[in-house]
Amino acid sequence: MASSPSPYNDDNEDILTSLNEDHVLTIQLNRPKAYNALRTQLLKEVAEVLIKATSDDLVRCVVLTGGPKVFAAGADITEMVDKTPVDVLNDPRAAYWMSIRNFPKPMIGAINGFCLGGGNELAMHCDILIAGRNAQFGQPEINLGIIPGAGGTQRLTQMIGKSKAMKLVLSGQFLSAIEAEQAGLVGEVCEPELTIQKAQNLAKIIALKPPIAARLAKEAVLKASDGLLAEGIQFERKAFALLFATQDKAEGVSAFMEKRKPTFQGR
Ligand code: CAA
Repeated sequence: MASSPSPYNDDNEDILTSLNEDHVLTIQLNRPKAYNALRTQLLKEVAEVLIKATSDDLVRCVVLTGGPKVFAAGADITEMVDKTPVDVLNDPRAAYWMSIRNFPKPMIGAINGFCLGGGNELAMHCDILIAGRNAQFGQPEINLGIIPGAGGTQRLTQMIGKSKAMKLVLSGQFLSAIEAEQAGLVGEVCEPELTIQKAQNLAKIIALKPPIAARLAKEAVLKASDGLLAEGIQFERKAFALLFATQDKAEGVSAFMEKRKPTFQGR
């Protein structure tokens, strides 16, 4: 990662940040032992850095990455164990997702390895994705007795179409980097060791463009779909919360923690 003294090298626990002289802010998710699982602290830190970057003229483009091995294996399942539907409805995570969604400057995702569940939802909040050949994309929440809860059902369907989205959401299977590129989820596939550099090179090109035009271009492109997404995202969020009342969710999460196959009863 390029490094320079910057106001972003704060006391973050779960992310690394660096701002380079090309006006590119790189944010790296940094919980490698948990496959960068998006615990609430991590999501909060990403949201706060993006809020800071919004009003910082030195930042013209952001690269979001999980590093060379894994992007993120989804929400942190250990945080889900005792959550009730009411906890989910009151969860501060919704506000963090909203801050990420509202980041107005261009953001490029540099994706290696697993990009799953909330990880894939985070990747889909980026404006362009560059993936290493080792990347795998999926929404495996169904294996936990739940569904995507941060816009995955809506954004994935919009990006890759109903049939492919249904396949991923209902079966929990993954797309390879090449399949994701063919499906329209990913903009470019490269060797894994080049992913971050390629994203930073593209970010540098974008950072040289007029910043106000770049912001408005992003907003305009998002307008092509955002209006259509809003209702679906609201429905998904309520369905996600409701599923936290089911025995199947308790079984799915316990099975993951106990490293065994779940048995679902439809209760
Ligand atoms: N949450 C917490 N810990 C996780 C995690 C997650 N999502 N994914 C992986 N880990 C941890 C594992 O528990 C394990 O930790 P230990 O070494 O302490 O046991 C470590 O990361 C490595 O994982 P595995 O041993 O399972 O590695 P693997 O290579 O055999 O499998 C994997 C990798 C396929 C990604 C598998 O870990 C997996 O299926 N993870 C869960 C994926 C998932 O279900 N994501 C969706 C979460 S729900 C969600 O995302 C909803 C939302 O945001 C709204």
